[in-house]
Amino acid sequence: MDKIVSLCKRRGFVFPGSEIYGGLANSWDYGPLGVELKNNIKQLWWDRFVHRRDDIVGIDAALIMNPKVWEASGHVATFNDPMVECKNCHERYRADQIDMNAPCAKCGKKDFTEVKQFNTMFKTNLGPVDDGKSTVYLRPETAQGMFVNFKNIVDTSRKTIPFGVAQIGPAFRNEITPGNFIFRTREFEQMEIEYFVKPEEWEKWFEYWLEQQKEWIKEIGISDGAVFVEIPEADRAHYSKRSIDTEFKFPFGQKELYGLAYRADFDLTQHQKMSGQSLEYTDPHTNEKYLPHCIEPTWGVNRTLLAVLCSSYREEGEGKEKRVYLALPPKLAPYKVAVFPLMANKPQLVEKARAIYQDLQKHFTVAWDDRGNVGKRYYSQDEIGTPFCITVDFDTVEKDNMVTVRSRDTKEQPRVKVEELISYLTSKLV
Ligand code: GAP
Repeated sequence: MDKIVSLCKRRGFVFPGSEIYGGLANSWDYGPLGVELKNNIKQLWWDRFVHRRDDIVGIDAALIMNPKVWEASGHVATFNDPMVECKNCHERYRADQIDMNAPCAKCGKKDFTEVKQFNTMFKTNLGPVDDGKSTVYLRPETAQGMFVNFKNIVDTSRKTIPFGVAQIGPAFRNEITPGNFIFRTREFEQMEIEYFVKPEEWEKWFEYWLEQQKEWIKEIGISDGAVFVEIPEADRAHYSKRSIDTEFKFPFGQKELYGLAYRADFDLTQHQKMSGQSLEYTDPHTNEKYLPHCIEPTWGVNRTLLAVLCSSYREEGEGKEKRVYLALPPKLAPYKVAVFPLMANKPQLVEKARAIYQDLQKHFTVAWDDRGNVGKRYYSQDEIGTPFCITVDFDTVEKDNMVTVRSRDTKEQPRVKVEELISYLTSKLV
Protein backbone atom coordinates (compact mmCIF):
# COMPACT_ATOMS: atom_id res chain seq x y z
CA MET A 1 0.00 0.00 0.00
CA ASP A 2 2.84 2.41 0.84
CA LYS A 3 4.31 1.80 -2.61
CA ILE A 4 1.02 2.62 -4.29
CA VAL A 5 0.45 5.78 -2.23
CA SER A 6 3.99 6.90 -3.00
CA LEU A 7 3.65 6.19 -6.74
CA CYS A 8 0.36 8.12 -6.77
CA LYS A 9 2.00 11.17 -5.22
CA ARG A 10 5.26 10.98 -7.20
CA ARG A 11 3.64 10.56 -10.60
CA GLY A 12 0.60 12.82 -10.17
CA PHE A 13 -2.27 10.39 -9.66
CA VAL A 14 -3.37 11.46 -6.16
CA PHE A 15 -2.09 14.25 -3.90
CA PRO A 16 -2.95 14.90 -0.24
CA GLY A 17 -5.74 17.54 -0.24
CA SER A 18 -4.80 21.17 0.65
CA GLU A 19 -1.23 19.96 1.15
CA ILE A 20 0.47 23.38 1.37
CA TYR A 21 -1.74 24.13 4.40
CA GLY A 22 -0.79 20.91 6.13
CA GLY A 23 -3.59 18.96 4.47
CA LEU A 24 -7.17 18.35 5.56
CA ALA A 25 -7.80 15.03 7.28
CA ASN A 26 -8.28 12.31 4.69
CA SER A 27 -9.05 14.56 1.76
CA TRP A 28 -7.34 13.82 -1.54
CA ASP A 29 -6.92 15.63 -4.84
CA TYR A 30 -6.67 13.81 -8.16
CA GLY A 31 -3.70 15.03 -10.20
CA PRO A 32 -3.16 15.12 -13.98
CA LEU A 33 -2.94 11.32 -14.31
CA GLY A 34 -5.51 10.55 -11.58
CA VAL A 35 -8.19 12.64 -13.25
CA GLU A 36 -7.58 10.82 -16.56
CA LEU A 37 -7.80 7.41 -14.88
CA LYS A 38 -10.94 8.40 -12.96
CA ASN A 39 -12.59 9.85 -16.08
CA ASN A 40 -11.73 6.70 -18.05
CA ILE A 41 -13.39 4.53 -15.38
CA LYS A 42 -16.52 6.70 -15.46
CA GLN A 43 -16.60 6.84 -19.27
CA LEU A 44 -16.21 3.06 -19.62
CA TRP A 45 -19.01 2.53 -17.10
CA TRP A 46 -21.34 5.02 -18.82
CA ASP A 47 -20.64 3.47 -22.24
CA ARG A 48 -21.28 -0.01 -20.94
CA PHE A 49 -24.41 0.64 -18.90
CA VAL A 50 -26.03 3.62 -20.66
CA HIS A 51 -24.83 4.11 -24.24
CA ARG A 52 -24.64 0.45 -25.23
CA ARG A 53 -28.09 -0.46 -23.85
CA ASP A 54 -31.55 0.71 -24.71
CA ASP A 55 -33.15 0.04 -21.30
CA ILE A 56 -31.12 2.53 -19.22
CA VAL A 57 -31.14 6.33 -19.33
CA GLY A 58 -28.92 8.78 -17.48
CA ILE A 59 -29.62 11.65 -15.11
CA ASP A 60 -27.56 14.31 -13.34
CA ALA A 61 -29.46 15.48 -10.25
CA ALA A 62 -28.64 18.34 -7.86
CA LEU A 63 -26.31 17.56 -4.96
CA ILE A 64 -28.50 19.49 -2.52
CA MET A 65 -32.08 18.25 -2.55
CA ASN A 66 -35.21 19.24 -0.62
CA PRO A 67 -34.61 17.99 2.96
CA LYS A 68 -37.91 16.12 2.80
CA VAL A 69 -36.17 13.73 0.39
CA TRP A 70 -33.94 12.56 3.24
CA GLU A 71 -36.82 12.33 5.70
CA ALA A 72 -38.72 10.16 3.22
CA SER A 73 -35.70 8.02 2.36
CA GLY A 74 -35.10 7.23 6.03
CA HIS A 75 -31.65 8.84 6.09
CA VAL A 76 -32.55 11.51 8.68
CA ALA A 77 -33.78 8.84 11.09
CA THR A 78 -31.43 5.96 10.38
CA PHE A 79 -28.27 6.94 8.49
CA ASN A 80 -26.28 6.62 11.69
CA ASP A 81 -23.02 5.06 12.74
CA PRO A 82 -22.46 4.01 16.37
CA MET A 83 -19.75 6.27 17.87
CA VAL A 84 -17.70 6.06 21.07
CA GLU A 85 -15.10 8.45 22.43
CA CYS A 86 -12.10 7.72 24.62
CA LYS A 87 -12.70 9.82 27.76
CA ASN A 88 -8.95 10.22 28.25
CA CYS A 89 -7.62 11.35 24.83
CA HIS A 90 -10.98 12.12 23.10
CA GLU A 91 -10.17 9.93 20.08
CA ARG A 92 -13.43 8.86 18.41
CA TYR A 93 -14.14 5.41 17.02
CA ARG A 94 -16.91 3.55 15.29
CA ALA A 95 -18.15 1.19 17.98
CA ASP A 96 -18.81 -1.56 15.42
CA GLN A 97 -15.21 -1.42 14.16
CA ILE A 98 -13.31 -1.80 17.44
CA ASP A 99 -13.19 -4.23 20.35
CA MET A 100 -14.84 -2.20 23.13
CA ASN A 101 -13.13 -4.37 25.76
CA ALA A 102 -9.66 -3.55 24.42
CA PRO A 103 -7.76 -0.36 25.38
CA CYS A 104 -7.87 2.81 23.22
CA ALA A 105 -5.52 2.36 20.25
CA LYS A 106 -4.23 5.93 20.66
CA CYS A 107 -3.56 6.35 24.41
CA GLY A 108 -3.83 2.80 25.80
CA LYS A 109 -6.45 3.70 28.46
CA LYS A 110 -9.70 1.76 28.69
CA ASP A 111 -12.37 4.33 29.39
CA PHE A 112 -14.92 4.78 26.61
CA THR A 113 -18.14 6.81 26.62
CA GLU A 114 -21.52 5.15 26.04
CA VAL A 115 -22.22 4.34 22.38
CA LYS A 116 -24.01 7.28 20.68
CA GLN A 117 -25.72 7.21 17.27
CA PHE A 118 -24.08 9.76 14.96
CA ASN A 119 -25.90 10.79 11.77
CA THR A 120 -23.32 10.87 8.98
CA MET A 121 -25.14 13.25 6.63
CA PHE A 122 -23.36 16.57 6.12
CA LYS A 123 -25.54 19.52 7.11
CA THR A 124 -25.39 23.01 5.69
CA ASN A 125 -27.72 26.02 5.29
CA LEU A 126 -29.51 27.17 2.23
CA GLY A 127 -29.20 30.97 1.96
CA PRO A 128 -27.70 33.49 4.37
CA VAL A 129 -29.81 32.90 7.48
CA ASP A 130 -29.01 30.05 9.84
CA ASP A 131 -32.35 29.85 11.66
CA GLY A 132 -32.71 26.08 11.83
CA LYS A 133 -35.38 26.17 9.12
CA SER A 134 -32.85 26.39 6.29
CA THR A 135 -31.00 23.16 7.12
CA VAL A 136 -30.21 21.07 4.05
CA TYR A 137 -27.95 18.08 3.48
CA LEU A 138 -25.28 17.20 0.97
CA ARG A 139 -26.55 13.97 -0.59
CA PRO A 140 -25.15 10.80 1.03
CA GLU A 141 -26.04 8.70 -2.04
CA THR A 142 -26.85 9.57 -5.66
CA ALA A 143 -29.79 7.12 -5.63
CA GLN A 144 -32.48 9.51 -4.39
CA GLY A 145 -32.04 11.73 -7.47
CA MET A 146 -33.29 8.78 -9.52
CA PHE A 147 -36.26 8.00 -7.26
CA VAL A 148 -37.58 11.56 -7.04
CA ASN A 149 -37.35 11.89 -10.84
CA PHE A 150 -38.98 8.52 -11.51
CA LYS A 151 -42.21 10.08 -12.83
CA ASN A 152 -40.36 12.70 -14.93
CA ILE A 153 -38.34 9.94 -16.55
CA VAL A 154 -41.32 7.68 -17.26
CA ASP A 155 -43.21 10.65 -18.75
CA THR A 156 -40.36 11.90 -20.95
CA SER A 157 -38.26 8.89 -21.96
CA ARG A 158 -41.00 6.42 -23.02
CA LYS A 159 -39.16 3.65 -21.22
CA THR A 160 -41.26 0.73 -20.10
CA ILE A 161 -40.63 -1.66 -17.21
CA PRO A 162 -38.05 -3.13 -16.89
CA PHE A 163 -35.81 -0.09 -17.26
CA GLY A 164 -33.10 1.66 -15.30
CA VAL A 165 -31.81 5.12 -14.47
CA ALA A 166 -28.06 5.68 -14.10
CA GLN A 167 -26.13 8.47 -12.46
CA ILE A 168 -22.49 9.27 -11.74
CA GLY A 169 -21.66 11.95 -9.22
CA PRO A 170 -20.41 13.01 -5.81
CA ALA A 171 -21.80 11.84 -2.48
CA PHE A 172 -20.83 13.02 1.01
CA ARG A 173 -20.69 11.22 4.35
CA ASN A 174 -19.30 12.62 7.56
CA GLU A 175 -17.46 9.36 8.29
CA ILE A 176 -16.28 8.95 11.90
CA THR A 177 -13.14 7.10 10.85
CA PRO A 178 -12.14 7.80 7.26
CA GLY A 179 -8.85 6.27 6.17
CA ASN A 180 -6.84 3.80 4.10
CA PHE A 181 -5.89 6.41 1.52
CA ILE A 182 -8.82 7.00 -0.89
CA PHE A 183 -10.77 3.95 0.37
CA ARG A 184 -12.96 5.76 2.91
CA THR A 185 -13.28 9.50 2.53
CA ARG A 186 -15.90 12.08 3.40
CA GLU A 187 -16.51 13.04 -0.21
CA PHE A 188 -16.42 10.48 -2.96
CA GLU A 189 -18.14 9.60 -6.19
CA GLN A 190 -20.67 6.90 -6.94
CA MET A 191 -21.90 5.26 -10.14
CA GLU A 192 -25.39 3.94 -9.43
CA ILE A 193 -28.26 2.32 -11.30
CA GLU A 194 -31.82 2.08 -10.03
CA TYR A 195 -33.36 -0.69 -12.13
CA PHE A 196 -37.18 -0.82 -11.96
CA VAL A 197 -38.90 -4.17 -12.45
CA LYS A 198 -42.22 -5.94 -11.96
CA PRO A 199 -42.43 -6.93 -8.26
CA GLU A 200 -42.73 -10.65 -9.04
CA GLU A 201 -39.59 -10.58 -11.21
CA TRP A 202 -37.14 -9.12 -8.69
CA GLU A 203 -35.15 -12.32 -8.09
CA LYS A 204 -34.39 -12.83 -11.76
CA TRP A 205 -33.16 -9.24 -12.09
CA PHE A 206 -31.14 -9.43 -8.88
CA GLU A 207 -29.23 -12.40 -10.33
CA TYR A 208 -28.87 -10.58 -13.63
CA TRP A 209 -27.26 -7.51 -11.99
CA LEU A 210 -24.93 -9.68 -9.94
CA GLU A 211 -23.71 -11.17 -13.24
CA GLN A 212 -23.32 -7.67 -14.71
CA GLN A 213 -21.20 -6.61 -11.75
CA LYS A 214 -19.03 -9.70 -12.30
CA GLU A 215 -18.62 -8.83 -15.99
CA TRP A 216 -17.61 -5.26 -15.09
CA ILE A 217 -14.84 -6.33 -12.73
CA LYS A 218 -13.52 -8.65 -15.45
CA GLU A 219 -13.49 -5.78 -17.95
CA ILE A 220 -11.41 -3.58 -15.65
CA GLY A 221 -9.06 -6.40 -14.67
CA ILE A 222 -9.79 -6.67 -10.94
CA SER A 223 -11.79 -9.92 -10.72
CA ASP A 224 -8.92 -11.94 -9.21
CA GLY A 225 -9.14 -9.95 -5.98
CA ALA A 226 -12.95 -9.97 -5.72
CA VAL A 227 -15.19 -11.96 -3.38
CA PHE A 228 -19.03 -11.91 -3.25
CA VAL A 229 -20.61 -11.75 0.17
CA GLU A 230 -24.29 -12.18 1.08
CA ILE A 231 -25.12 -9.59 3.74
CA PRO A 232 -27.20 -10.88 6.68
CA GLU A 233 -30.39 -8.98 7.52
CA ALA A 234 -28.93 -7.36 10.63
CA ASP A 235 -26.14 -5.72 8.61
CA ARG A 236 -28.21 -4.58 5.63
CA ALA A 237 -29.08 -0.94 4.95
CA HIS A 238 -32.55 0.05 6.20
CA TYR A 239 -34.02 -0.03 2.66
CA SER A 240 -32.66 -3.40 1.55
CA LYS A 241 -34.41 -6.76 1.54
CA ARG A 242 -31.40 -8.55 0.09
CA SER A 243 -27.81 -7.40 -0.42
CA ILE A 244 -24.70 -8.92 -1.93
CA ASP A 245 -21.48 -6.93 -1.64
CA THR A 246 -18.53 -7.29 -3.95
CA GLU A 247 -15.56 -7.22 -1.60
CA PHE A 248 -12.00 -6.76 -2.78
CA LYS A 249 -8.73 -7.98 -1.26
CA PHE A 250 -7.03 -4.61 -0.72
CA PRO A 251 -3.52 -4.62 0.80
CA PHE A 252 -5.13 -3.52 4.11
CA GLY A 253 -7.71 -6.34 4.09
CA GLN A 254 -10.82 -7.61 2.33
CA LYS A 255 -13.30 -4.71 2.21
CA GLU A 256 -16.48 -3.60 0.45
CA LEU A 257 -15.95 -2.43 -3.10
CA TYR A 258 -19.49 -2.47 -4.55
CA GLY A 259 -23.03 -3.19 -3.41
CA LEU A 260 -26.12 -4.80 -4.88
CA ALA A 261 -29.42 -4.26 -3.08
CA TYR A 262 -33.04 -5.23 -3.56
CA ARG A 263 -34.74 -2.00 -2.44
CA ALA A 264 -38.21 -3.34 -3.37
CA ASP A 265 -40.72 -0.43 -3.46
CA PHE A 266 -39.32 1.15 -0.29
CA ASP A 267 -38.21 4.43 -1.87
CA LEU A 268 -41.11 5.02 -4.28
CA THR A 269 -43.59 4.22 -1.48
CA GLN A 270 -41.89 6.66 0.88
CA HIS A 271 -41.69 9.48 -1.69
CA GLN A 272 -45.30 8.92 -2.69
CA LYS A 273 -46.35 9.28 0.95
CA MET A 274 -44.16 12.29 1.72
CA SER A 275 -44.85 14.22 -1.51
CA GLY A 276 -48.52 13.33 -1.85
CA GLN A 277 -47.91 12.64 -5.56
CA SER A 278 -48.71 9.35 -7.22
CA LEU A 279 -45.58 7.57 -8.44
CA GLU A 280 -47.47 4.60 -9.78
CA TYR A 281 -46.52 3.18 -13.13
CA THR A 282 -49.20 2.22 -15.65
CA ASP A 283 -48.50 -0.89 -17.71
CA PRO A 284 -49.06 0.24 -21.34
CA HIS A 285 -50.47 -3.15 -22.35
CA THR A 286 -52.74 -4.07 -19.44
CA ASN A 287 -53.33 -0.60 -17.91
CA GLU A 288 -52.49 -2.17 -14.55
CA LYS A 289 -51.16 0.41 -12.07
CA TYR A 290 -48.45 -0.52 -9.58
CA LEU A 291 -45.29 0.67 -7.84
CA PRO A 292 -42.32 -1.04 -9.51
CA HIS A 293 -39.67 -2.70 -7.38
CA CYS A 294 -36.06 -1.63 -7.58
CA ILE A 295 -32.76 -3.48 -7.91
CA GLU A 296 -29.80 -1.24 -7.16
CA PRO A 297 -26.28 -2.09 -8.26
CA THR A 298 -23.86 0.55 -6.94
CA TRP A 299 -20.19 1.19 -7.62
CA GLY A 300 -17.79 3.57 -5.81
CA VAL A 301 -15.58 5.43 -8.30
CA ASN A 302 -12.68 6.06 -5.92
CA ARG A 303 -12.61 2.50 -4.61
CA THR A 304 -12.64 1.28 -8.22
CA LEU A 305 -9.60 3.43 -8.95
CA LEU A 306 -7.82 2.07 -5.88
CA ALA A 307 -8.67 -1.56 -6.76
CA VAL A 308 -7.45 -0.99 -10.33
CA LEU A 309 -4.15 0.41 -9.06
CA CYS A 310 -3.70 -2.45 -6.57
CA SER A 311 -4.48 -5.08 -9.25
CA SER A 312 -2.23 -3.60 -11.90
CA TYR A 313 0.85 -2.79 -9.80
CA ARG A 314 3.78 -5.02 -10.86
CA GLU A 315 7.43 -5.28 -9.90
CA GLU A 316 9.70 -7.30 -12.15
CA GLY A 317 13.42 -8.20 -12.31
CA GLU A 318 16.30 -7.39 -9.96
CA GLY A 319 18.90 -4.65 -9.52
CA LYS A 320 19.41 -2.54 -12.65
CA GLU A 321 16.92 -4.70 -14.54
CA LYS A 322 14.17 -4.01 -12.03
CA ARG A 323 11.10 -2.28 -13.32
CA VAL A 324 7.80 -1.18 -11.82
CA TYR A 325 4.82 -1.05 -14.11
CA LEU A 326 1.08 -0.65 -14.03
CA ALA A 327 -0.55 -3.33 -16.17
CA LEU A 328 -3.62 -1.15 -16.65
CA PRO A 329 -6.26 -2.30 -19.14
CA PRO A 330 -5.53 -0.05 -22.17
CA LYS A 331 -9.01 1.52 -21.96
CA LEU A 332 -8.18 2.85 -18.50
CA ALA A 333 -4.58 3.97 -19.08
CA PRO A 334 -4.19 7.78 -18.77
CA TYR A 335 -1.96 7.81 -21.87
CA LYS A 336 -2.43 5.16 -24.55
CA VAL A 337 0.90 5.85 -26.19
CA ALA A 338 4.07 7.92 -25.71
CA VAL A 339 6.22 9.37 -28.51
CA PHE A 340 9.99 9.96 -28.21
CA PRO A 341 12.60 11.37 -30.58
CA LEU A 342 15.68 9.15 -30.04
CA MET A 343 17.73 12.29 -29.34
CA ALA A 344 16.34 15.66 -28.25
CA ASN A 345 19.14 17.65 -29.93
CA LYS A 346 18.59 16.35 -33.49
CA PRO A 347 16.00 18.65 -35.12
CA GLN A 348 15.09 16.18 -37.89
CA LEU A 349 14.20 13.52 -35.27
CA VAL A 350 12.27 16.00 -33.11
CA GLU A 351 10.34 17.36 -36.10
CA LYS A 352 9.31 13.89 -37.29
CA ALA A 353 8.39 12.73 -33.77
CA ARG A 354 6.37 15.92 -33.23
CA ALA A 355 4.41 15.31 -36.44
CA ILE A 356 3.61 11.72 -35.36
CA TYR A 357 2.66 12.94 -31.88
CA GLN A 358 0.24 15.52 -33.27
CA ASP A 359 -1.29 13.03 -35.66
CA LEU A 360 -1.83 10.43 -32.94
CA GLN A 361 -3.39 13.03 -30.63
CA LYS A 362 -6.41 13.13 -32.94
CA HIS A 363 -7.09 9.50 -31.96
CA PHE A 364 -5.53 8.77 -28.56
CA THR A 365 -4.22 10.45 -25.41
CA VAL A 366 -0.49 10.76 -26.13
CA ALA A 367 2.50 11.60 -23.94
CA TRP A 368 5.65 13.32 -25.20
CA ASP A 369 9.05 12.69 -23.66
CA ASP A 370 12.49 13.78 -24.88
CA ARG A 371 14.38 13.79 -21.57
CA GLY A 372 17.19 11.40 -20.66
CA ASN A 373 17.78 8.17 -22.53
CA VAL A 374 15.16 5.91 -24.06
CA GLY A 375 15.54 3.29 -21.26
CA LYS A 376 14.62 5.90 -18.63
CA ARG A 377 11.67 7.06 -20.69
CA TYR A 378 10.37 3.46 -20.92
CA TYR A 379 10.73 3.14 -17.16
CA SER A 380 8.82 6.35 -16.64
CA GLN A 381 5.95 5.37 -18.98
CA ASP A 382 5.79 1.82 -17.52
CA GLU A 383 5.25 3.29 -14.08
CA ILE A 384 2.16 5.21 -15.21
CA GLY A 385 0.81 2.31 -17.27
CA THR A 386 1.26 3.65 -20.83
CA PRO A 387 0.71 0.56 -23.06
CA PHE A 388 2.97 1.62 -25.98
CA CYS A 389 6.04 3.80 -26.56
CA ILE A 390 7.08 4.93 -30.03
CA THR A 391 10.67 5.91 -30.80
CA VAL A 392 11.65 7.91 -33.88
CA ASP A 393 15.28 7.21 -34.87
CA PHE A 394 17.63 7.94 -37.76
CA ASP A 395 16.30 5.02 -39.82
CA THR A 396 12.81 6.52 -39.53
CA VAL A 397 13.83 9.78 -41.20
CA GLU A 398 16.65 8.58 -43.46
CA LYS A 399 15.61 5.11 -44.55
CA ASP A 400 12.30 3.41 -43.98
CA ASN A 401 9.67 5.73 -42.39
CA MET A 402 9.22 3.05 -39.69
CA VAL A 403 9.25 3.47 -35.91
CA THR A 404 9.93 1.17 -32.96
CA VAL A 405 6.74 0.42 -31.02
CA ARG A 406 7.63 -0.97 -27.62
CA SER A 407 4.96 -2.82 -25.62
CA ARG A 408 4.68 -2.20 -21.87
CA ASP A 409 3.61 -5.76 -21.09
CA THR A 410 5.75 -7.89 -23.42
CA LYS A 411 8.68 -5.46 -23.88
CA GLU A 412 8.68 -6.51 -27.56
CA GLN A 413 9.76 -3.80 -29.99
CA PRO A 414 8.50 -4.42 -33.54
CA ARG A 415 9.10 -1.85 -36.29
CA VAL A 416 5.84 -0.45 -37.68
CA LYS A 417 5.29 1.75 -40.74
CA VAL A 418 4.34 5.29 -39.74
CA GLU A 419 1.30 5.25 -42.04
CA GLU A 420 0.07 2.06 -40.30
CA LEU A 421 0.53 3.32 -36.73
CA ILE A 422 -3.08 4.31 -36.09
CA SER A 423 -4.54 1.01 -37.24
CA TYR A 424 -1.76 -0.94 -35.44
CA LEU A 425 -2.42 0.84 -32.14
CA THR A 426 -6.22 0.73 -32.52
CA SER A 427 -6.09 -3.05 -32.90
CA LYS A 428 -3.91 -3.44 -29.80
CA LEU A 429 -5.64 -0.93 -27.52
CA VAL A 430 -8.79 -2.95 -26.82
N1 GAP B 1 -27.20 3.89 -2.87
C1 GAP B 1 -26.63 2.80 -2.15
C2 GAP B 1 -25.42 3.14 -1.43
O1 GAP B 1 -25.07 4.30 -1.32
P1 GAP B 1 -23.40 2.12 -0.07
O2 GAP B 1 -22.97 0.68 0.06
O3 GAP B 1 -23.61 2.89 1.17
O4 GAP B 1 -24.76 2.05 -0.93
C3 GAP B 1 -22.17 2.44 -2.34
O5 GAP B 1 -22.39 2.89 -1.02
C4 GAP B 1 -20.70 2.45 -2.68
O6 GAP B 1 -20.17 3.77 -2.48
C5 GAP B 1 -19.83 1.56 -1.79
O7 GAP B 1 -19.87 0.22 -2.23
C6 GAP B 1 -18.47 2.20 -1.97
O8 GAP B 1 -17.87 1.78 -3.19
C7 GAP B 1 -18.80 3.68 -2.09
N2 GAP B 1 -18.60 4.36 -0.79
C8 GAP B 1 -19.46 4.39 0.25
N3 GAP B 1 -18.94 5.12 1.26
C9 GAP B 1 -17.74 5.56 0.86
C10 GAP B 1 -16.71 6.37 1.45
N4 GAP B 1 -16.85 6.91 2.65
N5 GAP B 1 -15.57 6.61 0.74
C11 GAP B 1 -15.43 6.10 -0.51
N6 GAP B 1 -16.37 5.34 -1.12
C12 GAP B 1 -17.51 5.07 -0.46
